[in-house]
Amino acid sequence: MRERIIESRITECALEELDEGAQVLIRTAMEATKNSYAPYSHFHVGAALRLDDGTVLKGANQENASFPVTLCGERTAIFAAHAQYPDHAIEAIAITATNDNGPVATPVTPCGACRQAMVETEMRQKHPLKIYLYGSKGVYVINGIRNLLPLAFDDPS
Ligand code: THU
Repeated sequence: MRERIIESRITECALEELDEGAQVLIRTAMEATKNSYAPYSHFHVGAALRLDDGTVLKGANQENASFPVTLCGERTAIFAAHAQYPDHAIEAIAITATNDNGPVATPVTPCGACRQAMVETEMRQKHPLKIYLYGSKGVYVINGIRNLLPLAFDDPS
């Protein structure tokens, strides 16, 4: 029997410590929260991603009266990118959210389904994602989704 320790690496910093490109992406994610449709949860998630040619796309969660139909902000952005720019890699994604009290203080972290979708993105584009999770108290910077999803499910074939 052997215990294995699996490490995740996450950098925590202030918004102002990031380079201009990252700050712009985070501000775009903040803007994207306005496009969220969240009449049920009042939790407005905004995502912004940058492709390898510099194109920036926004995403926002879209809820439904039939709750499971809801799609997270991260996946609306990622799937839109793959649908419209299938030959471009996603370099970076910024995610944030607001609730009834305004911007979240603690960075919003993607749900398990979005993490799994990001693993598939990294595999198909053979390029890691730089992930910025924003809260008003600080930003988490993650190089590669596997830091958020160790032992991810992979193609079993
Ligand atoms: N949500 C996201 O958009 N991304 C996540 O990673 C977690 C949850 C949305 C789904 C739902 O509209 C609302 O947040 C509350 O769960």
